[in-house]
Amino acid sequence: MITATQTMDEQWFYLVDAVIESRSGDILRKIYQAYYLNPPDAFSDILHQISEQIDRLKDALNQMTDHCHPWIFYHLIRKYIAGWGEEGMLYGNEEVPRKYVGSSAAQSPLIQAIDVCFGIHYDKSDPMVGIIMESRKYMMNKHVLFLEWLEKEVDLRKRAQELGSDAKMAYNRCLDSLAAFRRDHIIIVSRFILSVDKGINDEEKKGTGGSPIVQFLKFVRQNMDQYKFKEIKKKKKKKKKKRKRSRKGKGGGLGHPTLYVGGATEKKKKKKKIKKNKKKKK
Ligand code: HEM
Repeated sequence: MITATQTMDEQWFYLVDAVIESRSGDILRKIYQAYYLNPPDAFSDILHQISEQIDRLKDALNQMTDHCHPWIFYHLIRKYIAGWGEEGMLYGNEEVPRKYVGSSAAQSPLIQAIDVCFGIHYDKSDPMVGIIMESRKYMMNKHVLFLEWLEKEVDLRKRAQELGSDAKMAYNRCLDSLAAFRRDHIIIVSRFILSVDKGINDEEKKGTGGSPIVQFLKFVRQNMDQYKFKEIKKKKKKKKKKRKRSRKGKGGGLGHPTLYVGGATEKKKKKKKIKKNKKKKK
């Protein structure tokens, strides 16, 4: 691979992104299956599969640190993917400088498409939404049209609501996986940018995509929370409490009752073996 810095780190940086993009095809196919093709009783199963696939995106993301060093990323690679800044850049004989932000995975339609399909939207009055919409200007036109089509056509949250508690639980699981992906992404950003650049306050640091990093990533991450089905959470908690109570009754608080019983029979077996061996020796 030809890179600007000729480092393994830069190759790895692009490779991780490419792996995540290539895995996304499976997710979109599954979303299509869940929404259009399968009978309603398969909906939850497919959503569980989707959540596993989102977990695989997270695993790939976490491999960033395997061969891309934060210092090399920040001091060598990042300047090649940065934008033109406030002054802009004169193109050819043009007289007015053009202003472009740099490249960022935020400009990929992948995560936006997943958000949209799960019915996750943003409060239009929040200034941070502007950054998401701005990122679409850097996407291929076909991708933007696809996102707009998804916005009108697909809503897995609404479907889960119609189908009932199993579907809602599966929906929540997908959102948990997406939230975990974003949590780990924030950790990566913190290691690759915030901790390397000690020069200015974190609140003032900007991403290559031009966003105020900390505020923007926090906003996107927190926005998801309102979409989880809250009543499902409560049911789960109730079930957990019930299970705890019944364990206390059966096993006297010693953990799982079957493990306890298993332990006792093992002891008896050992005693029998020792007795047999003693008899043999006599
Ligand atoms: C060293 C690795 C990475 C760093 C330092 C990094 C940094 C950032 C920063 C600073 C932003 C804020 C927007 C901006 O101004 O650019 C952002 C947004 C974003 N990044 Fe990354 N990123 C990395 C890798 C990735 C990868 C591999 C993906 C793969 C999909 C990704 C997906 C996203 C998405 C989807 C957003 C938009 C916010 C969201 O939807 O949560 N990033 N990233």
